[in-house]
Parts: sequence; C-alpha cells; structure tokens
Amino acid sequence: MANQELFKKVLSHAKEYGFVFPSSEIYDGLSAVYDYGQQGVALKKNLRDYWWKAMVQLNDNIVGLDAAILMHPTTWKASGHVDAFNDPLIDNKDSKKRYRADVLVEDYVGKLDTKIEKEVKKAAKRFGDAFDKAQFLSTNPRVVGYKEKGDAILKRLGKSLEKEDLADVKSLIEELEIVCPVSGSKNWTEVKQFNLMFGTKLGASAESATELYLRPETAQGIFVNFLNVQKTGRMKLPFGIAQTGKAFRNEIVARQFIFRMREFEQMEMQFFIPPGTQKEWYAHWKETRLKWHHSLGLGEDNYRFHDHEKLAHYADAACDIEFKFPFGFKELEGIHSRTDFDLSSHEEFSGKKLQYFDPERQENYVPYVLETSIGLDRLFLAVFSNSLQEETLEDGSSRTVLRLPAVVAPTKVAVLPLVKKDGLPDIAKSFVDELKWDMTVAYDEKDAVGRRYRRQDALGTPFCITVDHQTLEDQTVTIRYRDSMAQERLTLPEAKAKINAAVSFQNWLGDI
Ligand code: GAP
Repeated sequence: MANQELFKKVLSHAKEYGFVFPSSEIYDGLSAVYDYGQQGVALKKNLRDYWWKAMVQLNDNIVGLDAAILMHPTTWKASGHVDAFNDPLIDNKDSKKRYRADVLVEDYVGKLDTKIEKEVKKAAKRFGDAFDKAQFLSTNPRVVGYKEKGDAILKRLGKSLEKEDLADVKSLIEELEIVCPVSGSKNWTEVKQFNLMFGTKLGASAESATELYLRPETAQGIFVNFLNVQKTGRMKLPFGIAQTGKAFRNEIVARQFIFRMREFEQMEMQFFIPPGTQKEWYAHWKETRLKWHHSLGLGEDNYRFHDHEKLAHYADAACDIEFKFPFGFKELEGIHSRTDFDLSSHEEFSGKKLQYFDPERQENYVPYVLETSIGLDRLFLAVFSNSLQEETLEDGSSRTVLRLPAVVAPTKVAVLPLVKKDGLPDIAKSFVDELKWDMTVAYDEKDAVGRRYRRQDALGTPFCITVDHQTLEDQTVTIRYRDSMAQERLTLPEAKAKINAAVSFQNWLGDI
C-alpha cells in the first residue's frame, strides 16, 4: 500500500474494528483527543505491560511509581515548564491557519528525505543484487546534496531555536520558500512563543482558587518523589523509577491521528546516577531501548536515532529513537541526559535537600539523571500501522491482516466451533473456559469458518482453534496460524503449549 493510502486504511481499520474512536464523537469529536475501544484498550495495556516488564520486572534496580496528575504549581516553575515549555508558532495571514514554525521547516527536510528514498529505490532496481546502499548514500551527488542541504537546515533551525532567535526561524521559512499548505501563500506573520500547558483551578471559590496545571510530562512526579522512594526502598545508586500515565499538552499542530494528541500517555523512566557517569549511561540506555524496540519484530530498518541539535533546557545530551510511520520517520521515544537540573531546581524552589549519600564516594550529592521517555499512543500507532497489511492470496482473493506481535495481540486465540450444532459449541465453550485462565480468548460461532478466520485476521488474533466432528472422537482440534494461514491438528494441551510459547514474554524479551 502507498503510504498515504496505508494511513487512511489505518484510521478506518482502527475505528471499524474497535481500536480507536474520536473522543465524544456524537458531538462531532474533540480535536486531537481519542478514545480506545474494546480492542484498542487491550492492545494498549499489552504494550504498557511489555514496557513495564522490560523496565521494572526484569531490572532489580528499577522500581515503579504512580504519582498524581495534579501537582503543586511550583513544580512547573522549578522544572522550567512555566518559562520554557513553548512552541514557536507562525500564522499564515491568508488562510488564518496557525503552524509550528519548526514543524514547517522539519517537514521541508522530510521531503528531502523522501527524495533520497526515491533515489535509493530507483538505484536498487537498476543495480539489482550488486546494489550497495551505504556506498550509494555516501557517493551519489544528488543524494549527498539533499542530505547536506537537510543537515544544514536542521542545524540552523536548532541554533536559532536555542538562541531564541525567532526572527531567523522566520527568515529560514522565507528563504526555503515554504508555503501554507492551505492557502499556498508565503504571507507569514512573525514567529511567537506559545506555552503548551493546560491550566486549571483547585478550590471552590474564584477568590481562593489555586491555579494548577495538568502535568505536561510524568517525569516531574518522579523527581519530587526521588527521596521518598530512595529512602523507603533503601535504593542505592544507580537506580531507576519508572511510571506510566497521562500527560496533557495544548498542542497547536495536533494531527496525524494519535501521533500528536492533547491528552496522551507516557511511559517514562528516570535513572539516577553519580555525576560524571552520564556518558556511559546515556550510551547504555540508547542501546537497551533500541534493542527493546527491535524485540517487537517490526523490522530493524524502521528505526533510527536522531541526535538533538537543540537541547531542551534540562539536557546535556539527547536523542530520539525515530520510527518509520506511514508519514515518514518521526520521534517515537526520547533519551535524555538531564544532568542534575531537575533535582537541583526542586531543591532550590522547595528549600528541601534532594541529595544522596554515596557510601563509596563518602559524599553527599545531587544525582544526575538519565531519562527514557516513550509515548504509549505513538508506540500503539507504530505497532498498529506496521502490522496492518493487505495481502493478495494464491487464489487471487485478498485479505486484510493485522500482523501484531503475538505477545501484545489483544486476543491470543479464538475458539470456533466448525458448525453451530452436534454439540460442537458446548465443547468449544468448555475449551474457552479452560484457556481463559492463561490467555485472552474469544469465542465466535457466527458465519462460515472462513469468514471467522478473516475477522480474527483483521483483529490481529495470532491463533484460531477450530472444534469439529473429529474433536468428538479424539479430542484433537485444528490450530490455524494467522500469519501463514497454515493449519495443524493437535490436542488441546499441545495447542495451548504452542500458544503459550508464542506469547511468552521470556521468548520475546529474553534476548535484550
Ligand atoms: N519527560 C520528557 C518528555 O516529556 P518529550 O520528548 O516531550 O519528553 C516524550 O516526550 C515522548 O512522549 C515523545 O517521544 C512522544 O513519544 C510522546 N509525546 C510527546 N508529546 C506527545 C503528544 N502530543 N501526543 C502523543 N505523544 C506525545
């Protein structure tokens, strides 16, 4: 499927099969806010578990936390969000549409990347087996030109944003002759900063109410609890605190479905380390997190690192793990070396010490922090869009199949009686009762079995078990595999063991 076509299909499939709905749809929805349906909530939970197991359960020096969404307002002063959590915005005077100035420039560079990809595809076709992609990328004059141009643009953008030189960001947009996608004009306003936090109020009367913010990241809940966890858990550095939960941002350019939402979920881990060790831990977490992504089996070529030119106010090094979404490579996860910025700042604003006594160094200090931060909704979109495939079968017919990694599939197995008579439904239901203690199971008796297989393919169910007349005689069932569509005759315990192995966390995460 072409990318645009795939993306349209992702949206319609997500809705049609109960994965994602627009929020409050009966009132025409709320822009960039979405609800997860009966299938989506299960996939989302499984992805969250996959992260939690890898980060918390499998690391004896990482513990969990569930901090509140509402926090004391000084938190956001200390974290820098009140002063610096801004997006540079620009309006087009003709269409009256508002854009993120940096996104306009990044999209321009994205188009250069698409041109590079096209050149690579053409050359690969021309040279066949002899094609050396790395050599082509480093020597083809046109490709090298696009790459150099893109790098230079991003470098300048990063520098201008870092220096808050918004006039230069506007000049860049003008020099690149970027036009408004709606009006097609280059009639731009100046670039202005806009704070992304949602404000709210705590208290009964307008006079006594305290201004609060909905948290724009989960990380600060971890920082303010650093000593609580360290002391009560008797944690020794290096150690991590992980948390998953909602975050809120008043995104101006909210688009691309669940990629950029106003209410979304983050999975963050702050790893507290002795000062001076941040370089090695930065390398460690970059590698570990990339391996975790690869373990999902979506294709290693679909990931790449992108080092930040413009560092956030708290970081001394930062990169993104980008994923190839249907609309191109975009940030999926951030890895940030946050220094002692947050803890030191909370010390200053709260007047409370947030220090650790290091028994080896025999000194007190404010730990440094390495952060890994991934958006659960973006992970959902990555997995969902990569898994959705339209296949032409040998007989010329086509099928839609959602090749979700079995470990995160909402339903692991569907049990289907071949026909709705001869006692087959009762046996199938008894198998459901037996299997449901260990895995998520669906039961389906409507329509011909072929149609039921297709329905489970579209839902991403990796296995179907069919109960037929032979089951009455020898207790065997047919197990049908989603990806190959192959079928095999097994006893129920054999089928159960096969499915358990295929969805076992150990088999998926064992190598990372
Ligand atoms: N604590 C650091 C932090 O929040 P970030 O790069 O702003 O860093 C981390 O966000 C991750 O959260 C991103 O890599 C992305 O996956 C996700 N994310 C950020 N804004 C989002 C949004 N508006 N909608 C969905 N996911 C978002």
